[in-house]
Amino acid sequence: MDKKIISIINQKGGVGKTTTVINLAAGLSMKEKKVLVIDLDPQGNATTGLGLSNTENSENTIYSVLNGNKKISEVIQKTKFEKLNLVSSNVDLSGLEVETAGDSRRAFKLKDELVTILNDSGGSYDYILIDCPPSLSLLTIMALVASDALVVPLQTEFFALEGLTQLMKTIERIKSKLNPSLEIRGILLTMYDKRNKLSSQVEAEARNYFKDKVYNIAVPRNVRLSEAPSHGVPVLIYDKLCPGSKAYFRFTEEFLNQEKQIETAA
Ligand SMILES: Nc1ncnc2c1ncn2[C@@H]1O[C@H](COP(=O)(O)OP(=O)(O)OP(=O)(O)O)[C@@H](O)[C@H]1O
Ligand SMILES: [Mg+2]
Repeated sequence: MDKKIISIINQKGGVGKTTTVINLAAGLSMKEKKVLVIDLDPQGNATTGLGLSNTENSENTIYSVLNGNKKISEVIQKTKFEKLNLVSSNVDLSGLEVETAGDSRRAFKLKDELVTILNDSGGSYDYILIDCPPSLSLLTIMALVASDALVVPLQTEFFALEGLTQLMKTIERIKSKLNPSLEIRGILLTMYDKRNKLSSQVEAEARNYFKDKVYNIAVPRNVRLSEAPSHGVPVLIYDKLCPGSKAYFRFTEEFLNQEKQIETAA
């Protein structure tokens, strides 16, 4: 089976998950790939970052899909980019865990919906990218069950690796019980500051431990990356020549090359 459904995941907050989702999605769509972004975070940052609204009371969000009120095909929205669609999120999603407590199959709900959309769209989506919330809650479990592969952004700061142990344990648990084919595609170093010794220390530790799972490219700390979301566009559009854009372009290329290597090896 194709490895199409990719979650961008790390239970630690503010490590660059959403920034990576938005810019990988934009980069892939510029490479003529058709991409669907699922905003699975009640904060709705991927939604606003792609120029759509995350205000309350909308029925057309991932929440309505996961609580069974709507089919995913009914809530897919267009973005400014022809090849990039979005399933948005808002704060309503934070109620899902409590509201679905009686449903024993709820961990599979997202997977079932995504399989449907991949089948119904006749393979027109090359990738589905899921933006995960900063927790190991039901939403994250749903993403792990639904995903073929994971990209883990790792902020090059103190404590960055400590949080990963817990994530790895959760991934192993889901692998052994609910989704045997789940794999970590790669670890992306983010907010890298080459003047800061800590950045290179965290990089060395990560490369030593995760070996070639760590992408060659590290995303630098770049203020343009934090400005872009308030304009509702990926940085690749906001300022395509800034260091952050260049890094995400190169990351997109590395991501696609990695795919080719996996295909050749298979
Ligand atoms: N490389 C970078 N350089 C500078 N700022 C960045 C960089 N990457 C992300 N940011 C900024 O840091 C903040 C956190 O990034 P982001 O929202 O992508 O993280 P997250 O992991 O999705 O956070 P959360 O866990 O809350 O969902 C945002 O304000 C974002 O604009
Ligand atoms: Mg986020």
